[in-house]
Amino acid sequence: MMLTRRELLKLGLSAAATVPLGRLLIPDRVLAHGDHGGGSGGSSPPTTPFAVPLPIPPVLVPSSTDATTDYYQITMRPAQMQIIPGLWTTIWGYNGLYPGPTIVARSGRRVVIRQTNNLPEPSSVHLHGGHTPPDSDGHPTATIAPGAYRDYIYPNNQIAAPLWYHEHADGRTPQNVYKGLAGFYILTDDFEAGLNLPSGAYDVGLAIQDKQFNADGSLFYPEITGDVLKNGFLGDKLLVNAAIQPFFKVANRKYCFRLLNGSNARDYELALSSGAVFKQIGTDGGLRPAPITRSTIPIAPGERIDVVIDFKPFPVGTKIVLKNNKGSGDTADVMRFDVDRTESDTSSLPATLRPLPSLPAATKTRDIELDFDRGLDLWVLNGKPFDPARIDAFPKLGSTELWRFKNRSRMMHPLHLHDVQFQVVARDGGLLPGDVGWKDTVPVESWDSVSVKVQFLDFTGTYVYHCHILEHEDHAMMGQFQVVP
Ligand code: C2O
Ligand code: CU
Ligand code: CU
Repeated sequence: MMLTRRELLKLGLSAAATVPLGRLLIPDRVLAHGDHGGGSGGSSPPTTPFAVPLPIPPVLVPSSTDATTDYYQITMRPAQMQIIPGLWTTIWGYNGLYPGPTIVARSGRRVVIRQTNNLPEPSSVHLHGGHTPPDSDGHPTATIAPGAYRDYIYPNNQIAAPLWYHEHADGRTPQNVYKGLAGFYILTDDFEAGLNLPSGAYDVGLAIQDKQFNADGSLFYPEITGDVLKNGFLGDKLLVNAAIQPFFKVANRKYCFRLLNGSNARDYELALSSGAVFKQIGTDGGLRPAPITRSTIPIAPGERIDVVIDFKPFPVGTKIVLKNNKGSGDTADVMRFDVDRTESDTSSLPATLRPLPSLPAATKTRDIELDFDRGLDLWVLNGKPFDPARIDAFPKLGSTELWRFKNRSRMMHPLHLHDVQFQVVARDGGLLPGDVGWKDTVPVESWDSVSVKVQFLDFTGTYVYHCHILEHEDHAMMGQFQVVP
């Protein structure tokens, strides 16, 4: 990996040219963020920022419905699309779409999705953030063979939340999420609907990912060894809903944006140009107690952050860039909002949103150390690589536990638990604004430790927990817990 002049300046070093990273003595901490990834040497064909419109993934229509359930059918298959204008890219998509079609579900109403696998490899589909029975959770070993199908049952007994579904097959997750297997699953409920937040065309999912392309437009993805395994793979282009640095024409009114970091390994610090600000209204698992104004928002792989942006103060013609403070060059600008019309706005942004209940006292504390094992050449949890035959924790159904993630490495790791939404209760470095609310993925900074309180409700059975840097998750920073009666 080479450092550019700008990156060296950020490190407080000066150099006229680039310097191989290995020769520099850089404190561990410096590499905790942003441009930490495994490079490839090559680079994508040139592209022009803000030249293509933001794609809005279609909302999938149920194939049938009854009194309790909406039934959907999805076929996973390869498809071709133009991501770089004039060049064709083969993607793998749900219904051949990247991002996949959006599922809009209602709290308390069941969804059943029949997933048919027309890919050349086994696949497992996981509903990230879903409180889901274990046999529908998309366990890495519960794969659908090519040509076969599986019905995933989602009871949706949880509050409104920005969930997403993605590939989770053991040994193929980083490669196949990267190829396009990810989509939004927006869970709504009456409480949220009663708040009159911006909705419909003013409620927009933004799936942020990074990729690298070969000269012919095909996706570049390296072998997961060496620096790629250590740092995760970082692309040199930023995409939102599969478009490279798109623009989005907005009216001068409030919008709700559901930010999703669907990247394999890149973490962002989002900011807006032109003095615009975010009003954060939600976290991974639903609405916050109240909106909070933020000028910058860090977001790690797997995390979701719901924000309202009010374009009212900006005259028609204003162009507001969604920026990535951790990027440089093509990774510094994510997309652009172009205020192109005036419209009246009957939506609201209430001063209070959804109360955050306090969880019962924890009856058990578990420590989970995050580290790299140099002997195994793998990322490990408590010294052990993922083994589907091993279960690390047996929480009791209904009990509340404190899980303490202790990062013993030079990188940030976003830790994710399946099945549950938890609350972040302590962080050595002090709680962050983004910690307040229901979370299922929490960034644990280098040498920090983070405690989350989690209650195991409704379902017994086996689930995974893992780092959401996908190259780490699959090599082999994942464990299992089994909820027992
Ligand atoms: Cu989004 Cu097990 O992951
Ligand atoms: Cu998940
Ligand atoms: Cu990690």
